[in-house]
Amino acid sequence: MFRKSICTSFLFRKSFLRTTPQNFKHNVAIIGASGGIGQPLSLLLKLNPNIGELRLHDLKDIPGVAADLSHIETAVSVSHADGRDYGSTLKGADIIVVPAGMPRKPGMKREDLFNTNAQVVYDVAKGMAEHSPDAILIIITNPINAVVPIACEVLKDAGKLNPRKIFGCSTLDSVRTNTFVAGIIGADPKTVNIPVIGGHSGITIIPLISRSTPPACIEGEQLSKLITRVQDAGTEVVKAKAGKGSATLSMAYAASRLTFSMLRALDGEANIVESAYVLSDVVPEVKYFATPLVLGKCGIEKNLGLGKLSDAEQKMVCEALEPLKKEIAKGEKFVQDQK
Ligand code: LMR
Repeated sequence: MFRKSICTSFLFRKSFLRTTPQNFKHNVAIIGASGGIGQPLSLLLKLNPNIGELRLHDLKDIPGVAADLSHIETAVSVSHADGRDYGSTLKGADIIVVPAGMPRKPGMKREDLFNTNAQVVYDVAKGMAEHSPDAILIIITNPINAVVPIACEVLKDAGKLNPRKIFGCSTLDSVRTNTFVAGIIGADPKTVNIPVIGGHSGITIIPLISRSTPPACIEGEQLSKLITRVQDAGTEVVKAKAGKGSATLSMAYAASRLTFSMLRALDGEANIVESAYVLSDVVPEVKYFATPLVLGKCGIEKNLGLGKLSDAEQKMVCEALEPLKKEIAKGEKFVQDQK
């Protein structure tokens, strides 16, 4: 009797294991998978049953990361490639996530990474134009405000730009705002939701505390301190790491959140909203701006725009325009200069 029930449950388990892989249908490529963000991000994605194959790419150390990940008992398969040829990684990818590039050191602004990281995003966008123009692209590489325009320009020049599918990952700004506000109002961070608009650097990061769910009554000096902390949160981590890089774990979490939301939207789940830095016309003065977006099967289903802003938030939007314009122009000029 006992032996029989073990057998039955074994057979049940076997048939369960045989059928579940049918749900694993999205291929996700990670460019920069062996780096500080790439490794924890790969780990988080390896745990997602909606991913069929994780394609890991980096210039070095990638076979070890792939072997290590491949031992984890989930049905997500792992492949890897290195070198400057992105073809085998990108072909057939549904989502491409790019954490590749150099991180900041203390004293640096995100903009100081432009000279090193612009080329990385340029090369990935070229590869995408050639091998996977229909994929969703999620860029984590800094400076996001300037490199997202690089990707869009490269794809546009190749006649392959679909603005609904190109995302600058500013999710960490929302994650941090939710966490800090939860600390102030004494709530579980998971229950707090605050959109962050603008860009992903200094004063271009605009947390909309007036739109907090649940409402957060934070005013005066406490509000300005909170906003400054959100805007300087990346620098807070860079300083704390004292020369060993910038946020990796929280950034991996944030990028996985955006990727998971995208996967759910690709599968047809409705009302998935995430803020991200995208090509947009919601603020006529700048071509790119982060706003809350409804995600769908084809990427951005609807840009929810700025929504209702307090006077102070409206002022922050105005102050963000000049730095954003400069960074966008820098990205566009980089692509022009390659011609
Ligand atoms: C962050 O916000 O932590 C990242 O953009 C990394 C950085 O350099 O701040």
